[in-house]
Amino acid sequence: MKLWGGRFSKQAAKILDEFNASLPFDKELYIEDIEGSIAHSQMLAKQGIITNEDAKKIKEGLLKIKKEIENNEFKWDISDEDIHMAIEKRLIELIGDTGKKLHTARSRNDQVAVDFRRWVLKRNLDFSKKIKELIEVFVNIAKENINTIMPGMTHLQHAQPISFAYHMLAYASMFKRDYERFMESYKRNNKNPLGCAALAGTPHPIDRNETTKALGFDEPSVNCLDTVSDRDFALEILFNISMLMMHASRISEELVLWSTSEFAFITLSDEYSTGSSIMPQKKNPDVPELIRGKTGRAYGNLIALLTVMKGLPLAYNKDTQEDKEGVFDSVKNALISIEILKETLKTMKINKENMYKACKKGHLTATDLADYLVKKGIPFREAHHITGRAVALAESKGVDLSDLSLDELKSIDARIDKDVDLSLENSMNSRKSFGGTAPESVKKQIEYFENFLKEINDKN
Ligand code: ARG
Repeated sequence: MKLWGGRFSKQAAKILDEFNASLPFDKELYIEDIEGSIAHSQMLAKQGIITNEDAKKIKEGLLKIKKEIENNEFKWDISDEDIHMAIEKRLIELIGDTGKKLHTARSRNDQVAVDFRRWVLKRNLDFSKKIKELIEVFVNIAKENINTIMPGMTHLQHAQPISFAYHMLAYASMFKRDYERFMESYKRNNKNPLGCAALAGTPHPIDRNETTKALGFDEPSVNCLDTVSDRDFALEILFNISMLMMHASRISEELVLWSTSEFAFITLSDEYSTGSSIMPQKKNPDVPELIRGKTGRAYGNLIALLTVMKGLPLAYNKDTQEDKEGVFDSVKNALISIEILKETLKTMKINKENMYKACKKGHLTATDLADYLVKKGIPFREAHHITGRAVALAESKGVDLSDLSLDELKSIDARIDKDVDLSLENSMNSRKSFGGTAPESVKKQIEYFENFLKEINDKN
């Protein structure tokens, strides 16, 4: 008989059990469910709703169930529907009638909201930790490459010389925002649903502050009707993961490009590359490709839950049972993606000479010549035009602009003098404006990220 079977005279159809059940996947929530039930029963005892003796028995029973699950001794039965009922039924088997008191002043609606919310909150913290480690890797690579010059691009065309450090710190900036997003979601959603009961609260003299403290929430949620149907916490982590994966996908795309023979800016380590089953010579960047691919899947999970939630009337609807699998999937895939991205970056070889050589294609210091002429008092538009002619001369000679001799430059415009310096180094080193690519500016950025990392480390 089902725990809710009182008003039914026929057993549920077998296919209904299968269709209705979340047990195959919400098992994942067993720890949160047991902790939530212990906190609830302790509070009930403290408030005189059940006896201390009852609470003690319930706690012992629940801890025994936890062991059974962890030792693979727990008998999963799909007709129990979900983790909440599976555990409650087992509790009643173990401790008898006392077990039937556990669900006083509670509903599965607030129960699942507590369990799933706490599971998601913990994952927000897991992500923040993983992201912190990833940022550390970007900063470490940056520290080694302040003077490593590479072509900075726009439209994937050579634009201006930048340092590889600078490029790495662009990613550190993105992932710092991700870190903050996960932490902000944690803070915003750290509210206790327990005691909301089915939708309207309860007539029992419960103390929601008590379970709030016991479960590590900041405060009880304010409106029960909202709380039992609120899945913003799940949507937020799905969005945070989507954004995180979008950033991971962007660096992945660059890793794929950079490891081609056309670019050859990096060599991925054997440990994080794969071979081809037919072409013996191949070394493939499967890791960044998979990260790029899993990003699509993460977006799908976000859109799926947004779609589930749209149009749901208040309060709880069974539709929301569809909230879990996508979240579990996104969390699992994103955590492993960030971990393996970190290792891939740590172990890749940076081919500095190739980066430098690439800068000799595309006249990367053209803007510098224009800026030089502006400093000589020539209006920018005119300077732009003169520079264009210098680029055309270099093209006709088959050399890079930075390799034209002073005489050749003078033949374009006599105002170009021996103080002109179109070297890649001069170009990069001169971009000292705040947030620019010059070494002194990059050093400040490194310091900024190191302070950020230190602050996080000090807090933990
Ligand atoms: N398995 C359900 C879920 O995941 C638990 C809540 C069920 N509540 C209910 N009133 N049927 O959403």
